[in-house]
Amino acid sequence: MSEKFDELKDRTSKSVMNTYGRYPLALARGKGCLLYDLDGREYLDLLAGIAVTNLGHCHPEVTQAMCAQASELVHVSNLFYQEPQVALAEALIATWRPGRAFFCNSGAEANEGAIKLARRYMRKVKNQDRYEIITLTGSFHGRTLATLTATGQDKVKEGFDPLPQGFATVEAGNLEAMRAAVTDKTAAVLLEAVQGEGGVKPFPADYLKGVQALCREKGVLFMVDEIQTGMCRTGKWWAHQNYGLEPDVITIAKGLANGLPMGAVLATEEVAGGFEPGSHATTFGGGPVVAAAACRVLEIMNRDRMPERAARMGDFAKALFEDVSADNPGKIAQVRGLGLMIGIDLASDIPGGGQKVWEELVKRGFILNLTQGTVLRLLPPLTIEQEDLRRFAQALGDVLSEQ
Ligand SMILES: Cc1ncc(COP(=O)(O)O)c(C=O)c1O
Repeated sequence: MSEKFDELKDRTSKSVMNTYGRYPLALARGKGCLLYDLDGREYLDLLAGIAVTNLGHCHPEVTQAMCAQASELVHVSNLFYQEPQVALAEALIATWRPGRAFFCNSGAEANEGAIKLARRYMRKVKNQDRYEIITLTGSFHGRTLATLTATGQDKVKEGFDPLPQGFATVEAGNLEAMRAAVTDKTAAVLLEAVQGEGGVKPFPADYLKGVQALCREKGVLFMVDEIQTGMCRTGKWWAHQNYGLEPDVITIAKGLANGLPMGAVLATEEVAGGFEPGSHATTFGGGPVVAAAACRVLEIMNRDRMPERAARMGDFAKALFEDVSADNPGKIAQVRGLGLMIGIDLASDIPGGGQKVWEELVKRGFILNLTQGTVLRLLPPLTIEQEDLRRFAQALGDVLSEQ
């Protein structure tokens, strides 16, 4: 590593709280699918800031929208009407089903808002004392106290008790366990259609449809966390649309403003009635600059048919990785995913473990993530080209053949 990197790492360790296991890389610049470190070395970005810069880094049209809005009006609070926010709500609803949006600043805040909305809808609209939220093992819903309680992984909860009440976690993929867990206190089920942090795990369509049907039967809200899967990544605007599902609520963040912090809750008209003035708020939510950027993102995604592109490129990538798997018997347990949300699950006995493979790929100039110890997680910009994917598949094959 260079002196510049060592110096930055040292300053970080002295001034920033030690909450992240950071990659041995300091990035200075990005353009499209490429990133450059402090010394100008180029990397192919297959992570997009964890499914955020879906249109690539510094997309000129999004940058233009941000800059234009930044010289017009930056912040007024939600005490006032402003056009960019309304335009964004209308554009988002057009990708989903009739309903309403609430804007916030992150994924955790979107899920927090959805949890509050579910409880309040049950109390105020349905007049029922239902408050419990059911989530799945292996899920990830955020790091606030409520959303880490909702998250079905113990590692995020350690040392934070007492945790908020009113949450239950059931075994993912087990419909009978879900049926047994639903009570007259259940307000909502919240799940990811493809678990991201949990290891890029899509659920069978039957299971997801079964959960939705159970929710309808029991008068429980069906809420889908689209924070990682959304914004065209899985080949549809929203992952649940791949299964013909109609959730009552979805949560969005990450790619919404292509890198500016923004989250949203979309709910049907009826469920949105759970909120009224004063029941939920956030100072920065849906501010003009982020909303203008997100409006431009939606425009571009519609214009450039981004869902179809993600589906096509995802199929192309998976076929390449299946070939790598066939050429390296016993090294890859499974290639899975939906659209451009892809997990390459390495064999558990691969020499040096997943960490070694991941390190080798980073050394060769590829940025991606390792989750659950063995899963190489690819969440590239949706603008990625076939040639980029070929280049990565070649490097993966080289690294695996050397292990
Ligand atoms: C499915 C899912 N939900 C919620 C979150 C939390 O989002 P944020 O980090 O913006 O709070 C994430 C983040 O990785 C996520 O993948």
